[in-house]
Amino acid sequence: MPVTIVVGGQWGDEGKGKIVDALSAGFRAVVRYQGGPNAGHTVVRDDRRLVLHQLPTGILQADVHCFLAPGVVLDPWALRQEIDELHSAGFNSEMLVISPACHVIMPWHRDLDGCQEDRAGGGAIGTTRRGIGPCYIDKTARRGIRFADFVDEERLRHRIEAHRESIDAQLMQAGKPVLDVEALLEECRPLMRELIDYLGDSARPVRNMLEAGEAVLMEGAQGTLLDVDWGTYPFVTSSNPLAGGACTGGGVSPMTVERVIGIFKTYQTRVGNGPFPSEFQDEAFHDEFRQRAGEFGATTGRNRRCGWFDLVAARHSARINGLTDLVFTKLDILSGLPDIQVCVGYRVGGEVLEDFPEDSALLEGPVEAVFRTLPGWEGDLSRASSLEELPKNARAYLDFLSAEMGCRIGWVSTGPGSDQVIRCP
Ligand code: GDP
Ligand code: IMO
Ligand code: MG
Repeated sequence: MPVTIVVGGQWGDEGKGKIVDALSAGFRAVVRYQGGPNAGHTVVRDDRRLVLHQLPTGILQADVHCFLAPGVVLDPWALRQEIDELHSAGFNSEMLVISPACHVIMPWHRDLDGCQEDRAGGGAIGTTRRGIGPCYIDKTARRGIRFADFVDEERLRHRIEAHRESIDAQLMQAGKPVLDVEALLEECRPLMRELIDYLGDSARPVRNMLEAGEAVLMEGAQGTLLDVDWGTYPFVTSSNPLAGGACTGGGVSPMTVERVIGIFKTYQTRVGNGPFPSEFQDEAFHDEFRQRAGEFGATTGRNRRCGWFDLVAARHSARINGLTDLVFTKLDILSGLPDIQVCVGYRVGGEVLEDFPEDSALLEGPVEAVFRTLPGWEGDLSRASSLEELPKNARAYLDFLSAEMGCRIGWVSTGPGSDQVIRCP
């Protein structure tokens, strides 16, 4: 009953899309278990770039079943557009199933997300403004709208009316017009018709596949440091991207999990606000690095903040996820640097922390990263097909990270293309 979970090990954008695409042909199903259109998972095939936001990356394989499980929050408007784009790119969406229990991001969730961010000024989280937080708030407040409600007009009307007072109050507070329920239902009607065919259970078919011995891949979005419980709260997303989230949000038993693959860039990036101890301090180097690495958001186009690999955070990530395998991406980007720094500690108030603090607010004040320097390497790595073909110092760098994290290296990515990946023995 083999379940494989793929998780982002850092603050998202580690290259999950590319790796899930490379792995998914070997699986019967790919399941998204949390998050929503805040994700942007890039796949590059034959120089063609596709970015998946809500669809599981397995949708690019002709015969892989794809599920959006109950932990996902779904924006039907954005999903329709994504499905249209998928079809225009020559792929089909026949294998997609959306759980009736997925919560729906309604237009007011998007409005409230934007308003809250605007009003927070300097204290803003820097969300993707896709309505993620407000939708998960309604879910946990037990007043949300689920996909099965959304595709049934009478159920939808009833759910909206039942909570209209609180929705209107929030909209008024945000300076937005209150709900026009009839106009909204009118807007939803064509979407209901288009999306109802995707409605179906996720847990039962997945369980049947596992009982038949077929392999299932759980595709995480965001990353461990954005986890609402284990990340740099409050600068996090509103779900549980880490491996445990695949069980709660994806409905698979922990007893079925065989592998947990953690994806890490060979350096560190973050979009949005919040602590980032190993961020590059030299502005000119930071800008040049960002350009060279193409570190611009796949969902919002924002500049990604860049820095050196944070081993303190990576060890936390390895432990909290129970990682069995590591994937290192974007190794090619580090080629040509005279030396490479790795953050091995945080100096906070005269003390050096080597363990990621559970009270991550400690990192919001003055933090000095303690670095260890390793020698760099030269050369184009983009055609390397085995570890042996990598420069000696590049291998030593990866071996150092893997030994410190206590985990074997499964794959190394040396370019955006789906074939630019080294499988490690
Ligand atoms: P995800 O959200 O984890 O799927 O990652 P994103 O798609 O948001 O960002 C990763 C970016 O890095 C994308 O533009 C990928 O095409 C690109 N990428 C992935 N792996 C590599 C790699 O090994 N080398 C290079 N140069 N680019 C890569
Ligand atoms: P993928 O799956 C990187 C960040 C936002 C913000 C915080 C909260 O592509 O790795 P939200 O809109 O979720 O309420 O924003 O989380 N964030 C991401 N950063 N990659 C992502 O997804 C992200 N999804 C959310 O920038 O800091
Ligand atoms: Mg991304």
